[in-house]
Amino acid sequence: MKKKLLQYLACPLCGGGDIRLRAVAEEDGIEIMSGDLECANCERSFPIVRGIPRFANLEEIEEEKQATAESYGWSWQQFSQDDARYDEQFLAWIAPVRPEFFAGKVVLEGGCGKGRHTQRIARWGASDVVAVDLGPAVEVAFAATRDLENAHIIQADIYHLPLHRVFDYAFSVGVLHHLPNPRAGFKSLISKVKQGGYASAWIYGAENNGWIVRVINPLRREVTSKISRRLLFHLSKIPTAIMYGATKLIYRPLNSSRRGAPIARHLFYGDYLSSIAGFNWREQHLIVFDHLVAPTAFYIPREEFEEWWRDVNATDVVIGWHNKNSWRGFGRLPE
Ligand SMILES: C[S@@+](CC[C@H](N)C(=O)[O-])C[C@H]1O[C@@H](n2cnc3c(N)ncnc32)[C@H](O)[C@@H]1O
Ligand SMILES: [Zn+2]
Repeated sequence: MKKKLLQYLACPLCGGGDIRLRAVAEEDGIEIMSGDLECANCERSFPIVRGIPRFANLEEIEEEKQATAESYGWSWQQFSQDDARYDEQFLAWIAPVRPEFFAGKVVLEGGCGKGRHTQRIARWGASDVVAVDLGPAVEVAFAATRDLENAHIIQADIYHLPLHRVFDYAFSVGVLHHLPNPRAGFKSLISKVKQGGYASAWIYGAENNGWIVRVINPLRREVTSKISRRLLFHLSKIPTAIMYGATKLIYRPLNSSRRGAPIARHLFYGDYLSSIAGFNWREQHLIVFDHLVAPTAFYIPREEFEEWWRDVNATDVVIGWHNKNSWRGFGRLPE
């Protein structure tokens, strides 16, 4: 944990007391690797373990949330690789935001996984980016960002963020639909954005996802999220092989010819499969595994997503299709 993070921290237990350093046991360069934090108001303490401040203890978290966070933690440890295509993929999830937007901003990321986006935002010139995840993914995110003096990783629940309301921009990519109550998770994230600040969210859509909702969702809920992760890791290579074959033999060649591109868009999941056709085997395996491992997933209609933004009184809201099977939203919070 970098000392600079302290200015953003607020006690999640007593309604926002400042957090101060009580003890430092070990340091490594700019990181405090172990020690204790405490609330200046209620004096409750929070440990810093392996460089990460811990505001959530997975063992005390509700079972459903715990299972999701643990499954993803395991997933990010297996798939810790970086990929040059993540830039483009991330920007498509948060459009119309561009890298220049981050310059000088204080940014909050809800559910950072392995920290691939945290890393990018820090490099794109954010003043600071504070990234939160509930599960063991924080260990991977910490390793990926520890050398960036403006990147900070925290273990915490998105519903109980240990942060002051000081952020210029908050975003969450691929997380809210895995929460037991997605709308409440969105509101909690937004509650940390200062007046006149901005927010983005990307979620699974209900529209155009009929067969996933009918076939894959029950399979995920009843089978694939319950079997051993290692077994799922290997079994998920079967659907990956089918998707990989289709994208490399059909979608990609069609998309690289001018006449073929319009045809590719009309094929099964044309926009989506075309968008991932450039990814290698490992990335496609990650995508399939990621879809099958989570115990909870909601598919959210556009109308409901629009309500989330109305509920927080956002203005200048831009909601758009992402690959015609999911929704991305961007908006500004009132002054
Ligand atoms: C599909 S991953 C997306 C990670 C990252 N945004 C990305 O796109 O690479 C979902 C992440 O949300 C985290 N998560 C799940 N429930 C959470 C909660 N209640 N609070 C914070 N993070 C949570 C999981 O641990 C997981 O790392
Ligand atoms: Zn407190």
